[in-house]
Amino acid sequence: MKIAIGCDHAGFKLKDAVVNFLKGRQIDIVDMGAYEYNKDDDYTDAAFKVAGTIISEEANAGILLCGTGFGISIAANKMPGIRAVSCWNVESATMAKAHNGINVIAMGGNIVKPENVPEILSAWLDTEFQGGRHTRRLNKIAMAEKSTLTIAHQGGGRVVIFNHPLVQHKVSIIRDVNTSVKQFRELLQEIAGLMVYEITRNLPLHEVEIQTPIEKTIGHTIEGRKLAIVPVLRAGLGMVDGILQLVPNAKVGHIGLYRDPTTLEPVEYYCKLPFDIEERDIFVLDPMLATGGSSSAAISLIKKRGGKKISLVCLIGAPEGIDRIRKDHPEVEIFIAALDSHLNDHGYIVPGLGDAGDRLFGTK
Ligand code: PRP
Ligand code: URA
Repeated sequence: MKIAIGCDHAGFKLKDAVVNFLKGRQIDIVDMGAYEYNKDDDYTDAAFKVAGTIISEEANAGILLCGTGFGISIAANKMPGIRAVSCWNVESATMAKAHNGINVIAMGGNIVKPENVPEILSAWLDTEFQGGRHTRRLNKIAMAEKSTLTIAHQGGGRVVIFNHPLVQHKVSIIRDVNTSVKQFRELLQEIAGLMVYEITRNLPLHEVEIQTPIEKTIGHTIEGRKLAIVPVLRAGLGMVDGILQLVPNAKVGHIGLYRDPTTLEPVEYYCKLPFDIEERDIFVLDPMLATGGSSSAAISLIKKRGGKKISLVCLIGAPEGIDRIRKDHPEVEIFIAALDSHLNDHGYIVPGLGDAGDRLFGTK
């Protein structure tokens, strides 16, 4: 078992007691900081990092420490699949596990004494989730969670996963091995079009005065912001028209990369970007974020040519690909329609949809 731990300055005083307890139980620790006392740090950072390690299955569960355990659990509970509760004694930890199946326990450094940490953590770890009616309730929480867009911060730019029913519906059809090339093309454009609403959410607006047939009013229009979309050839081409339908003035660059089938490393063969790329908000398009090598190389190329504000828009992502982008380009926002489980031995996303380029162009 692996447990991720995270704290802010107010929880720091409990950290040694937590680490000693886990070591005593021979439980592996993923330490997400804080590593030293800093009165200005934010509990949210620890919460999102610990939640991220559970979502990516790097850890099975988490322990969060702040002043009361309240704020840090509220933050962690924003992440999909996280059930975090602040516990202050054996009874609260036992109930939180038995009835609520918490996968993250929070504790407050201003509430819990270090000497009480072992009994609270033992109660949490040794109590079984009771299932039954409690499972039904947890399932309802999970459904409510699925109906909203998921935004996960893993210590860098946002990772936005689209849980919208229309997107999920179309992603399920595009995955199907029996979906024709024609349908595949149409679906990829449609999904890319649906994603535009979210990827353009932060475009700045300015006020304009409008005369309606009834009266004068104030409306909002998008400021003349310069956008560029950059598909990664080949498969990224399949997303271009869906996006241009909604932002028709965006300029389009192209980056040619293919993944060497043996090394899985990206090989560059083409790059043509708008001349004023440094002034534009740039959306890199690639349906598949597998090892992340291709997308990372595309982003590096754009940065070399002056690109600054870059987001990555993908159809399906694997945790390995997200980690790679987080590591190579921590500030880049990632938008994906679906987050899959893992990569197989050939670097294909599981369950994925197979080879996106071949399915889009009918080359296999
Ligand atoms: C596919 C896909 C991505 C890349 C993802 O391209 O379109 O660009 O693989 O894999 P990665 O994250 O492991 O780099 P491919 O190399 O098959 O080229 P193609 O689009 O020309 O078919
Ligand atoms: N490239 C694809 O087209 N599909 C995968 O699953 C991985 C890389």
